[in-house]
Amino acid sequence: MSKLLVFGANGQLAKAIAERAHATGRTCECVGRDVVDLASPAEAGVDIERLMARQPEQTVIINTAAYTQVDKAESDTRTAFAVNAEAAGLIAAQCQLRAFPLIHISTDFVFSGPARRPLPEDAPTRPLGVYGQSKAAGERAVMDACASHLIIRTAWLVSEHPGNFLTTMLRLAKDRASLSVVADQSGSPTSTHDLAAALIDLADRASSGTVKWGVYHFAGPEMMSWAELARRIFSLANCPVEVCDTTAEAYGAPAPRPEFSALDSSKMKRATGLTHRPLDEALRDILSRMY
Ligand SMILES: NC(=O)c1ccc[n+]([C@@H]2O[C@H](COP(=O)([O-])OP(=O)(O)OC[C@H]3O[C@@H](n4cnc5c(N)ncnc54)[C@H](OP(=O)(O)O)[C@@H]3O)[C@@H](O)[C@H]2O)c1
Repeated sequence: MSKLLVFGANGQLAKAIAERAHATGRTCECVGRDVVDLASPAEAGVDIERLMARQPEQTVIINTAAYTQVDKAESDTRTAFAVNAEAAGLIAAQCQLRAFPLIHISTDFVFSGPARRPLPEDAPTRPLGVYGQSKAAGERAVMDACASHLIIRTAWLVSEHPGNFLTTMLRLAKDRASLSVVADQSGSPTSTHDLAAALIDLADRASSGTVKWGVYHFAGPEMMSWAELARRIFSLANCPVEVCDTTAEAYGAPAPRPEFSALDSSKMKRATGLTHRPLDEALRDILSRMY
């Protein structure tokens, strides 16, 4: 079993990885901003080197840390690129130096839409906003710096932890009878728990050299709009809230988002057999952790 070092300790995905790792008896060290501040590449480089130097052989590095505030990134370009691109490259360079496999998490927002079918790994990337551009730059930095990499693109992550679409919808529903939700953007809702289980399996394969390095997609099996996802969540949570369709233009978020960014995860399935549970099962699991 692999030993894991996870960047992004306080994030929703890192929490799911830590939970899964401990439940399956793995050693898993998670580090947050207090250990390495990835927004300051000069200091981060020294801290990453120090951290990596004390890891035992066979450690697999998982980088979940990211500047994920999609709208704020539009006006904070420097920090988004520092964390999502420069720091990702620094982590990758240390992995290369010390022969640690690296699993780096990326996003469907490297795509722009419009497409009509779930996107495979080799679909052309053309990120629309600063967040997607910085994550695409991070993918390139990882590819350039570290041969033993798995770049896992995922999408529309939901979990029981505050700050994602599911928890936001349920919070808003507490004192609203109806909500307007964007219906003209589609993607692949994904549970952090299903992704965490896949990442731990991939870490074992990376550690034993039984996976082909490269880019893979791992996302939920259904594509839908934000409005459809909201309806699904309210239905499963028995929450009597009406969802009214609105457009991205009317909603007016500061950052542009892809019209369609559902991911085709079939390469991952063919290579490893790893898949996401049916979406309703994964959503029920998250809801059961909340209530
Ligand atoms: N959320 C989604 O819907 C989604 C979709 C597709 C792909 N992804 C990707 O999936 C990965 C995990 O996402 P997530 O939803 O778990 O994100 P998250 O909950 O926002 O967690 C990201 C973590 O990165 C850390 N971080 C940010 N800036 C940092 C800095 N300067 N130094 C050190 N740490 C820093 C944050 O630390 P603090 O807690 O201290 O702020 C946070 O704990 C990311 O790579 C993201 O791009 C996410």
